[in-house]
Amino acid sequence: WARYAPYVAAINKLKKEKNAVILAHNYMTPQIYHGVADVVGDSLQLAIEATRVEADIIVQCGVHFMAETSKILNPAKIVLMPDMDAGCSLADAITAADIEEMRRQYPGAPVVTYVNTTAEVKAASDICCTSSNAAQIVAALDGDTIIMTPDQYLAQNVAKMVPQKRVVWYNGSCIVHEQYTAQDIREFREWNPGTRIITHPECPPEVVAEADYSGSTSGIIKYVNDEKPERAMLVTECSMASNIADSLPEVDFVGPCNMCPYMKMITLEKVLWTLHTGQTPVEVDEAVAGKARQAVERMIDMSK
Ligand code: 13P
Ligand code: SF4
Repeated sequence: WARYAPYVAAINKLKKEKNAVILAHNYMTPQIYHGVADVVGDSLQLAIEATRVEADIIVQCGVHFMAETSKILNPAKIVLMPDMDAGCSLADAITAADIEEMRRQYPGAPVVTYVNTTAEVKAASDICCTSSNAAQIVAALDGDTIIMTPDQYLAQNVAKMVPQKRVVWYNGSCIVHEQYTAQDIREFREWNPGTRIITHPECPPEVVAEADYSGSTSGIIKYVNDEKPERAMLVTECSMASNIADSLPEVDFVGPCNMCPYMKMITLEKVLWTLHTGQTPVEVDEAVAGKARQAVERMIDMSK
C-alpha cells in the first residue's frame, strides 16, 4: 500500500477539485476498489449509478462498454476512460450486422443483448441484460423463442433456468471464464473437500453445474457475505477474492483464478493521468445512443 498511497491521495484530491466521481467495477484492483472508487458494483449496479451521477465528470474504472453505457445513460456528463484499449472479448465478438442476421434466422424473436457489447450492438437489440437479471428478462419477454447475444455460455445457463423458453444464442465468449473446465472443478473439489465453489454465469454450463452458487459479481459478493463459508473458490476474475478477503477474515479464499487483461489495463497511474488531462472522453453518436438507451432503460425498468 505504501507504493500506492501517493497516487491514492493525489487522485482523491483531484477528484474533488474537478468535481468527478469514480465508478469502479468489482474486477478492479484492490488499490482502485478500496482506494479511490466512489461507487463499486457489478454491471447492472454501475449502469443504475451512472443515471444518478450529479458530478460533472465520471471516470469509468472498468472496460470500454461500461463507459459507453454511462455516457448513453447520462449524456450531459463527461465520461472518461483511463485507457481506451480496455475492451472485452464479448464486445469484440459481435456487430450490429450479426444481430440482423440472427433476426433473419429467427423471425419475430426478441433480441436480448448482454451489456458487454458496443453501443451499435445495443442499438440493434430489443433489450439488454446483465448476468444478474438475464433469466428474469428472458422469462418475462413475449414469444417462445428468445435470441440471446453475444455470450453463448450465459445464454446456455439462462436456458437451463428458463426451460419454458427456447433460447438461441450467438457464439461469443469471455476469455476469462471460458478457460475453466468441469474437470478442473471436480478435481479441485476432490482434493479440497468442503470448499464452497462459486461461479460466474459466463462460465460454460458444465462448470456452473459443478458449483454451489452462480451469480453476477455482486451476487457472488453477497453470497459469500451471507454464507461466510470456511473455504471458498471464486471461479471468476482474480481481483474478486482480493477485494473482499480483508473484510471476510473468517473465509479462506482458495484455488486458481483467471485475470482479465482488459480490466487490468486500468491502473492508478492511468486514473491520475485521466483526471489531470481530461483524456479520454467517450463519445457515442446521438442517433445510436438514443436507440441503445431504450434497450438499456428497458432492462433497468424490468429489473426493478
Ligand atoms: P457482472 O459484474 O455484471 O457480473 O459482469 C462481469 C463481467 O465480466 C464484466 O465484464
Ligand atoms: Fe469481458 Fe470477460 Fe474481461 Fe468481463 S472478464 S471484461 S466479460 S473479457
